[in-house]
Amino acid sequence: MCLCFSKWFHLFAIFHALVATPILSSTDSSNQFSTNFLDIAKKPEVFDWMVKIRRKLHENPELAYEELNTSKLIREELDQLGIPYKHPVGVTGVIGFIGTGNPPFVAIRADMDALPIQELVEWEHKSKVDGKMHACGHDAHVTMVLGAAKILKQHEKEIQGTVVLVFQPAEEGGAGAKKILEAGVLENVSAIFGLHIAPNIPVGFVASKSGSILAGSGFFDATISGKGGHAAIPHHSIDPILAASNVIISLQHLVSREADPLDPQVVTVAKFQGGGAFNVIPDYVSIGGTFRAFSRKTLEQLKLRIEQVIIGQAAVQRCTATVSFYEEVAPIYPPTVNNDELHMHFQNVAGNLLGINKVHNMPPFMGAEDFAFYQEVVPGYFFMLGVMNDSPEPIHPLHSPHLKINEDGLPYGAALHASLAASYLTKYQHDGSKVAGRYHDEL
Ligand SMILES: *[C@@H]1O[C@H](CO)[C@@H](O)[C@H](O)[C@H]1NC(C)=O
Ligand SMILES: *[C@@H]1O[C@H](CO)[C@@H](O)[C@H](O)[C@H]1NC(C)=O
Repeated sequence: MCLCFSKWFHLFAIFHALVATPILSSTDSSNQFSTNFLDIAKKPEVFDWMVKIRRKLHENPELAYEELNTSKLIREELDQLGIPYKHPVGVTGVIGFIGTGNPPFVAIRADMDALPIQELVEWEHKSKVDGKMHACGHDAHVTMVLGAAKILKQHEKEIQGTVVLVFQPAEEGGAGAKKILEAGVLENVSAIFGLHIAPNIPVGFVASKSGSILAGSGFFDATISGKGGHAAIPHHSIDPILAASNVIISLQHLVSREADPLDPQVVTVAKFQGGGAFNVIPDYVSIGGTFRAFSRKTLEQLKLRIEQVIIGQAAVQRCTATVSFYEEVAPIYPPTVNNDELHMHFQNVAGNLLGINKVHNMPPFMGAEDFAFYQEVVPGYFFMLGVMNDSPEPIHPLHSPHLKINEDGLPYGAALHASLAASYLTKYQHDGSKVAGRYHDEL
């Protein structure tokens, strides 16, 4: 997940305080796989194997679009399991197939990339690569989809369709999901499931919601140029520091004065660089930040207004400005919106697997996830999986150099992936309308 994460840390407390209603009332006979899958995932031959893979990935983190060894490890495991795959898809991606090879198709997704963060946890399997760390849990995500693959392969004859394993590159800002979609490999997929580890949710618990769960996000960067000079003679200069300060104040009005209060939005200026001396007015200042919202339309509106406000407000003070949104390297991430029917499916499957009191509702929050790209073209469902440690140490959030996850959560993720996919196929195999031509054009 690609995020600014301070709030996230407190979410589990919020689940309990505000919305601690277990959600689930019905059971569903199509889920007879479920309990069984969790038992299998907890067996030493599966659990120990998963722990080994996760630790190996953790020791060897690779950044976005450089996941060559990660991809290789995945392919070696798929080879050993006898699972066919396509590679490379979207630079380093791997797409595996389990089942009949025929429709319906359902996908489960893992992201492979690590972050440019120096690990500060001292443990036996600490990152061996300086300045790189799996600080967002993608090592666990890959492991759990492999775990699901192992379980599903053992039950391949019972699978009534095809489970598509998606190992994608570059979730952290590089929009790897977009590249997987552009490769066309998911074109007949009817539904896709993804999860994210949550270090603040206990093992055995999950949390999600129907509808909007995570915001869409974009980045901006601007250079505001004036004319440098001596700080004691301001009238001979055009001061970009003051102009940039006014730009930042004006940007705050986009949310406070122009946005619908019932449509959550964020505009944050997180970068301000200018000047280097006490007595020199600099030539230019650069500022940058992020904007977040829960619809494409609102994101586009914010983008338009951010550019207008920066250029317009800079001009008020005789400065010029250029604005960049880096869309080539960091496309705007759409909001993550969970499909309503899949929410029912998730509640049934997770409720059967974990117990209804362990399936929590969560409030939406302003982090972003490139899983959202899949959801724009395929009904999709994204949920949080508990990996909280039992120890009394403080909990460190995702993207922290101190992040430590509880590996006891791995079997839950593997079993949920396997159960969600297999029971989806059982449930929908006779429903032709859900199978063909999933791509629609509602971007
Ligand atoms: C990938 O693995 C090879 C062989 O083990 C190693 O030499 C190389 O440094 C690894 N690459 C990265 C990016 O970790
Ligand atoms: C999707 O289905 C169509 C029609 O059956 C087929 O031609 C196409 O090759 C399929 N695409 C993929 C990626 O399997």
